[in-house]
Amino acid sequence: MGGQIKWETDLETGILVVDFQHKEFFRLVNDLLDSSIKGRDRAAVAKAFNFLNFYIIDHFGMEESLMMEYKYQFLMEHRGFHRYFKEELQKLEAQISGNHFEEVSTRLDYLMVGWFVNHIKVQDRKLAKFLHEEAKVNRGLSERLGQLMRKFFG
Ligand SMILES: [Fe+2]
Repeated sequence: MGGQIKWETDLETGILVVDFQHKEFFRLVNDLLDSSIKGRDRAAVAKAFNFLNFYIIDHFGMEESLMMEYKYQFLMEHRGFHRYFKEELQKLEAQISGNHFEEVSTRLDYLMVGWFVNHIKVQDRKLAKFLHEEAKVNRGLSERLGQLMRKFFG
């Protein structure tokens, strides 16, 4: 029970730094699922959750700054989705401190499978398409994406 979340190649957006971060995010969620389902270790869950929380703030922040820098017309809409997810993570945090591990697992599963995967497929792909088009006319963009890749992944 309580499967791991599997990365599928059809989740790739073609924007390397975004894809790398999404994969890392999957890994962190699996860690969290592991520690909550198998370990039921409150400290481990809290630690895994903190990583995840910081990570998602970084990741959404990066996407949003790209949207702002390149004047993406769906910025507000996309940011709204990010806000919803961050709020959901906050609710999860409250459940973690109450030791409701089953609920945390179920909710995480929904957020990842039902929400995040869909977000990548719809919103992030739409953004990636825009960035690919923009890169054709804006030479600085590829350089910018390279910088971000180095910043996050060395
Ligand atoms: Fe996004």
